[in-house]
Amino acid sequence: MDRYLTEPLNPEHRRADFTCGIPSLDNYIQKQVGQDIKRKLAACFVLSNEKNEIKGYYTLSNAGITREQIPEKIRKKLPRAYYSLPVTLLGRLAVDERYKGQGLGKLLLIDSLKRAFEASGVIGSMTVVVDPIDTEAVSFYQRFGFIQLPDSGKMFLPMKTIELLMRGSDDQK
Ligand SMILES: CC(C)(COP(=O)(O)OP(=O)(O)OC[C@H]1O[C@@H](n2cnc3c(N)ncnc32)[C@H](O)[C@@H]1OP(=O)(O)O)[C@@H](O)C(=O)NCCC(=O)NCCS
Repeated sequence: MDRYLTEPLNPEHRRADFTCGIPSLDNYIQKQVGQDIKRKLAACFVLSNEKNEIKGYYTLSNAGITREQIPEKIRKKLPRAYYSLPVTLLGRLAVDERYKGQGLGKLLLIDSLKRAFEASGVIGSMTVVVDPIDTEAVSFYQRFGFIQLPDSGKMFLPMKTIELLMRGSDDQK
């Protein structure tokens, strides 16, 4: 079985047909993502069908957050030398309208956390960060344990928590 549900976006994927209902997320996959991939600003992974229609996609990038941006409880345990803390940004995640409500958003999120966790074994990253696009997205991420970062709309899930999640799912195999 494949390690991941998704694959890197490639030219065969029918990007122009993707519609999730949020224009900025549709526009991004239709027009901008290619440039971002070329410039190494983001990696994009898609779940597609045999006709190369995109059912859903997400993007991942390296990012940093300052000590001040994280909750004090966690900050206190970190060495002061790290002013900027390494994180993985789950920049975008969307499911095509035709496929919503079938569990694909959840599967895409788990797939992205799995990639982020495995990458953190090669290049350090202490947490996955998301920047929810609206209040519905906030409730979606809250459902999966993401915690609000103080003073920003961003949310995070510590890599340690993701590690426990991944270990748990491995144990069930
Ligand atoms: C948010 C989004 C990714 C969810 O995708 P989906 O495939 O419909 O979600 P799923 O069917 O996998 O739902 C998984 C769980 O999340 C819940 N859920 C889905 N959308 C939710 C929302 N907006 N708020 C709260 N919970 C939500 C479901 O009820 C389900 O719960 P369950 O596991 O207890 O049954 C999708 O609606 C979407 O693409 N929205 C537009 C883009 C967006 O908001 N992206 C996220 C931020 S960039």
